[in-house]
Amino acid sequence: MSVSLLSSRLVLCSASALLLIAALSISAQTAPVPRPDTRPWMNKSLSPDQRADLVMKEMTLDEKMSFVHGTGWNGLRADAVIPKGSLGGAGYVQGVERLGIPGINMADSAVGIRLAAQGSHYATLLPSVLGAACSWDKDALFLFGSVLGRELRDMGYNMSIGGGVDLARDPRNGRNFEYAGEDPVLAGTMVGSLARGVQANQVMGDIKHYAFNDQETGRTTVNVILDQRAARESDLLAFQIAIGMAQPAGVMCSYNRDTITPPGGTDWSCENDYLLNQVLKKDFDFKGFVLSDWGGTHSTVHAALSGLDQEQPGSGFFGDPLKAAVQKNQVPMSRLDDAVHRVLRSMFANGVIDNPPVTQVPDPFRGRDDAEHIADESIVLLKNSSQILPLNPASVQSIALIGSHADVGVLSGGGSAQVDAPGGNAAPTHPHPGGAFWMETVYFPSSPLKEIGKRAPSAKVAFDPGTDPAAAAKLAAASEIAIVFVNQPMSEGKDSPTISLPDNQDALVDAVAAANPHTIVVIENGAPVSMPWADRVQGIIDAWYPGIGGAQSLAGILFGDVNPSGRLAITFAKSDDQLPHPQVPGVDLIKNPGARHHAPGEIPLFDAPATEGVRVGYKWFESEKKDPLFPFGFGLSYTTYEYSGLNASQHEVTFTVHNSGSRAGTEVAQIYAVLPASTGESTFKRLVAWDRVSLAPGESKTVTLKLDPLYLSIFDVSKNSFVLAPGDYTILAGSSSAETPLSATIHIAQ
Ligand code: BGC
Repeated sequence: MSVSLLSSRLVLCSASALLLIAALSISAQTAPVPRPDTRPWMNKSLSPDQRADLVMKEMTLDEKMSFVHGTGWNGLRADAVIPKGSLGGAGYVQGVERLGIPGINMADSAVGIRLAAQGSHYATLLPSVLGAACSWDKDALFLFGSVLGRELRDMGYNMSIGGGVDLARDPRNGRNFEYAGEDPVLAGTMVGSLARGVQANQVMGDIKHYAFNDQETGRTTVNVILDQRAARESDLLAFQIAIGMAQPAGVMCSYNRDTITPPGGTDWSCENDYLLNQVLKKDFDFKGFVLSDWGGTHSTVHAALSGLDQEQPGSGFFGDPLKAAVQKNQVPMSRLDDAVHRVLRSMFANGVIDNPPVTQVPDPFRGRDDAEHIADESIVLLKNSSQILPLNPASVQSIALIGSHADVGVLSGGGSAQVDAPGGNAAPTHPHPGGAFWMETVYFPSSPLKEIGKRAPSAKVAFDPGTDPAAAAKLAAASEIAIVFVNQPMSEGKDSPTISLPDNQDALVDAVAAANPHTIVVIENGAPVSMPWADRVQGIIDAWYPGIGGAQSLAGILFGDVNPSGRLAITFAKSDDQLPHPQVPGVDLIKNPGARHHAPGEIPLFDAPATEGVRVGYKWFESEKKDPLFPFGFGLSYTTYEYSGLNASQHEVTFTVHNSGSRAGTEVAQIYAVLPASTGESTFKRLVAWDRVSLAPGESKTVTLKLDPLYLSIFDVSKNSFVLAPGDYTILAGSSSAETPLSATIHIAQ
């Protein structure tokens, strides 16, 4: 080989080597091998608290300050600046890039991710939380939270600000659909499971609105007055249970004021030492951070010392003013450190630093299936005379569907729980591009007309909008079965003035029922409604706001593919005058009653004594000897259940449930206790345990349930703790708060 040939080959070889090196370095640029993060706080074997302390050692005062306030209104207001790093959700907290701590992107996500339209995202609409609570199924609520967590991650969010667990003291509260009903044990358990589901997806969860935000009327001016024992045994117990189960990252304090006696004194919830420091952080041992509701911070020093950790959405009190207060030692540095520590430890504990979200397209199919599954367990069958239901698809000839846009969709709830409907509002009264408007009545494209048509292909299924009762009655008269859909749109920002259905819908039902004896009413509601026509129709189904799988689920129930297993998580009164307050407190102070919603300050400061005290919902009805329309815990099935053989001790109960009908079904077996007279709480029962029992026709199961001593206890103010009062307790088992065929007595010694 000539030297020149050799050298040219060498040149070629070194050229290809260079090319190879170049190629390697390109691939090294596109797919860097992650180097282990050796910063001490990235050591995953340390506890979240240790990791938070380590990173805080490196932080300047300004860096710490960024964790105690938000960065403005973000995506909530058209004129707000969206800071770098924010996804434009409801809130954003700046991180510290140099230390590898990401910002916190918060999204409203009560029943699905809010503001999805602005990013062209799809977000699954789940059933209302109140509906889901009617499943009495922890697993269903965990799934509910998992859908939220999954889709939040898909969109890049690392914190949910859903998780409402305020008790339904008043059925007219505009936000009841975001909450889990009137019983503290049921609501706390349901929302605790929901928040666990969120956090299982490495997204920080939240429980809100702490506390007693039980009405929207004057929510920023009302002063809720309640004695401490009643407070601890009602709303605060719901929070205690949910927080204990989920260990959420955040607890959002509410807009209202509270006077809890003792200690007495009136304070805003976001600067209430008793509620925040003493109860939440000390007694409940809450390790996460308290964030204010949006605009719910009222001071700097007082709020910081009373336990508020983070102002939202801005920095008017916890920005420069708090920094100055810390520098002047009006707020000790240790308090600021505690607040920052709580935020950071929650980020480490939930994996948002170790495993930040990676965006991808949310799976609409999986979301819809999950929503339908939850709806199957949420929908409550309230009446079924002459076994009109389930309908027989083989024999039904004609069905009239009437009202509530049942041709195109199902109703959803408004306010910050509003989810944007795919393709826009399915039934727009005022068509407009983009996402939903505040308090708009939004229908989701899950069409009862289509789904009912699919299940009964040989039947004639016709629709009438229900706007003219006479026309609707004409169609009903010409059909074998009439199904009237009635609706109750509800939203944050306003309570309903009454539990009556709006828009003359009672007259519509009356007209249809008069025209067709086989009338079934389907209710799409945020909360209980009165039903003056209940005796004149054969079937009543409460679908709540059933979510994006709502029509499929409803059709499954109408035709018996799904046997209803939902049970009311809230009492249905016959009329407003049965309620503890004939009208929502403060409603007569509204300056502009016709307004779409009440601006903060529109109602002056006012007191709202919670005179029913601990007797929320069914406890009120029972102790006042009032007979509701449908009691708490009630719901029918297409089969029947029998109870026998109750044995009870202080620690557990055993009983047998038998399916005495001809269909498989799931019974929600409920255990209540009546406390000894010495407690002053013996005029009503309280829910202490339950189970969903699935039974084949003819099958019996013996069920053993643990009794949690907390649920049998009363709160002793002098000891600042729950205690078991000595005496005889009546333990009851049955299918609702009003139907408890089994009874046993247990004695608790001194
Ligand atoms: C609501 C909160 C919500 C926040 C942010 C407030 O008006 O009360 O529930 O999370 O706005 O949208």
